[in-house]
Amino acid sequence: MLEELEALLSQARDAIIQAPDLSALEKVRIRLLGRKGELTSLLRRMNQLPPDQRPLVGQRANAVKEELEQLLTHREDELKNRALAARLQAEALDVTLPGRAFTLGHTHPLTLVLEEIERVFLGLGFSVVEGPEVELDWYNFEALNIPKDHPARDMQDTFFITEEILLRTHTSPVQVRVLERLAPRLPVKVIAPGKVYRRDDDATHSPMFHQIEGLAVDRHIRFSDLKGILLTFAQEIFGGGTRLRFRPSYFPFTEPSAEVDISCVICGGEGCRVCKGTGWLEILGAGMVHPRVLEVSGYDTSTCRGFAFGLGIERVAMLKYGINDLRLFFGNDWRFLSQF
Ligand code: DAH
Repeated sequence: MLEELEALLSQARDAIIQAPDLSALEKVRIRLLGRKGELTSLLRRMNQLPPDQRPLVGQRANAVKEELEQLLTHREDELKNRALAARLQAEALDVTLPGRAFTLGHTHPLTLVLEEIERVFLGLGFSVVEGPEVELDWYNFEALNIPKDHPARDMQDTFFITEEILLRTHTSPVQVRVLERLAPRLPVKVIAPGKVYRRDDDATHSPMFHQIEGLAVDRHIRFSDLKGILLTFAQEIFGGGTRLRFRPSYFPFTEPSAEVDISCVICGGEGCRVCKGTGWLEILGAGMVHPRVLEVSGYDTSTCRGFAFGLGIERVAMLKYGINDLRLFFGNDWRFLSQF
């Protein structure tokens, strides 16, 4: 029986050491020490031994049992550590990876230019007002001296919502809204920035763009006041050397009307690609407010006169920053926007 014990021990040692994982090890433990295990059944057979051999075999059997228990515990620790190490490696976090940078927003170039223009006009005593983008035909056309059959409507093909309601094609309707509200008070000095809409879409036209309307009405307003205000504006925005040129033009709501050019911001007037060799850049429309516009809004044209102008904010921003495609403003391309 002693040999049997030794054989069991050496075979059990191998089995324990080779158990590949915890569940295999548990099976080995049950096979050796369980209630029907090999060592257990061997011990049960002890009573078959002659009494004088029992103490010796009994002693050895206890020693074997103890050793097996130690071996099992040792192997169990080993396997647990190994499993833990494997898990730690699998779930490892590489804390040296760079984090994700937060990108800071920028003020949109159109907002920058708008704020700069507003600052100039606020300094000249103008207030900033706003009007609705969904507008009545009356304010957008009719009250501005553009009746239903007037060919000037063709210049501003627009988005109609009903026969009488449309997306405004320009900020000029705000002139009428302001005058109506203030009449007959004087003076009136406002600028009205905002979005306008036209059925246009290419590199230089967007179906939505921004304008600023200017309006001044008072007892003695003259064309020279308009010139002075616009020259100040141009020199503040484009630089002190900027010159202005007024070309006769036509708008139904001003008389006389002018298209206003600034000396080219690129070449200073020499002639270049941007000004197409002319030395001038068209920048806005302006004129003396047509008496009929003042009258429909409740002003007495025997006691007051006014000037008005309208300019495109995108156009100013493009010239100021040398941007060659209008669509960049609305593309939300971070590479473009982050330059401002
Ligand atoms: N509303 C005109 C347009 O969008 C621009 C304009 C021209 C506005 C002359 C004015 C003005 O106030 O006097 O084409």
